[in-house]
Amino acid sequence: MRQQIKHARKLENLLVKNGRIITSTSDFYGDVLIENGRINKVFSTGNQISAGQEIDAGGCYVLPGFIDPHVHLHLETPFGFSSDDFYTGSKAALHGGTTTLLDFVTPKKNESLTAALEKRKTEAADALIDYSLHVSPVSWNSNTRRQIISCVNQGISSFKVYLAYQKSIGISDYALAAIMETLAGTGAILMIHCENDGMISYLQKKFLTEGKTSPKNHGLSRPAEAESEAVNRAISFSEKFNCPVYLVHLSSAKSAGLVEKARKKGLQVYGETCPQYLLLDESSYDAKFDDAAKFVMSPPLRKAGDQSALWDAIASGAIQSIGTDHCPFTLGQKKNGKSDFTKIPNGAGGIEHRPSLMFTFGVLENRISMQQWVNILSTNPAKLFGLKNKGDIRPGMDADVVIWDADAKKTISARDHHQNCDQNIYEGITVKGLAKYVITNGRVAIKNQSLIEDNLSGRFIRCGSSGSIR
Ligand code: URP
Ligand code: ZN
Repeated sequence: MRQQIKHARKLENLLVKNGRIITSTSDFYGDVLIENGRINKVFSTGNQISAGQEIDAGGCYVLPGFIDPHVHLHLETPFGFSSDDFYTGSKAALHGGTTTLLDFVTPKKNESLTAALEKRKTEAADALIDYSLHVSPVSWNSNTRRQIISCVNQGISSFKVYLAYQKSIGISDYALAAIMETLAGTGAILMIHCENDGMISYLQKKFLTEGKTSPKNHGLSRPAEAESEAVNRAISFSEKFNCPVYLVHLSSAKSAGLVEKARKKGLQVYGETCPQYLLLDESSYDAKFDDAAKFVMSPPLRKAGDQSALWDAIASGAIQSIGTDHCPFTLGQKKNGKSDFTKIPNGAGGIEHRPSLMFTFGVLENRISMQQWVNILSTNPAKLFGLKNKGDIRPGMDADVVIWDADAKKTISARDHHQNCDQNIYEGITVKGLAKYVITNGRVAIKNQSLIEDNLSGRFIRCGSSGSIR
């Protein structure tokens, strides 16, 4: 939780000079003039302008602020809340260059979507960066249609359902059909967590009965087939009901292939993956409990072949967006599942590291271009979730700007990361490329990699219609 809000800093005009400006469609040397929290003008180098405050971005890239479309801050679970709240999570996000986040509203079974949305906004009130929310219907009843439409009218343009977790928040195929029919034509998009619950429940019970209780069995009980079956189902429903879908945290080659095929058919199907599925693999589960449990997430880590298929899917445009699924738990929380892998809270952190990881292992290893990197981390999430003033550097946009030092290096460690967690799944990985300055709504929030917290305050952003990407 945030301790105190310091006194207001006056918002001066700000000029970011001499940088190499990269957006999803342009690449040139120039200056960005910021006024009243918005980008006012973008010039090519050589203009004689000045402003109250100036930052020399010489030798650096100037980028639109990154958008993390998938985080779970302050998520309630039977093992306590995920360890980052909106304050600590947004602080960590800023250090990495992320200036907007999208979290979730997960109502209790009999709670209305609109009441849960209001409650979630109060929980998010101490976010340091702008945020919006995806709303999750967890069942279907006579009020759900009206509540969904009410959320759309309140600036919510993305909903999320879980095909896994049938004992708690997972929905039936009947509800999936009804929700898709409701959303079709509203301008909203449906995010879907694709895993077949029956297959997973059967395997979990079988392994526990056989005395197989270690974290490795988490991965074995959630095979790639459980994901691809649900991906296939989600695509079929999307086609039938003409509802745009965004399939979250795809982890396998099979799922990426299904999304690619659906897109080739012209369906409104979008795919997201996360750095952990691109960079880590199932061998992490071979370690002793304390080291293996931190990698317990759903879907689980997979094989090296899945990683390369996912990278190929990003490069070809079959996958359009990278989220983190940031949902960290401490080692103490993970220990709940010491003698039963199904009781290890699912999830891991990464909100701070996504830009650097994707730059180091994507751009610098020639898997994606600089512009693709900007696209999948900022411009595409802005389009898909209707964040009209984000994801680009042009006049009128919110002044969310990152000055990126491509030569700076850092070895990731829980010892000095900014996430509120005593472990880090990327521990020991060295990244090249860091956010040197981060500007959010015209305010300098990160200067020489350090936070200036005065008067930072994130806003709830009302989203417009989800845009299409071909
Ligand atoms: O393991 C994960 N992904 N935890 C977060 C909740 C979810 O399933 O997305
Ligand atoms: Zn998630």
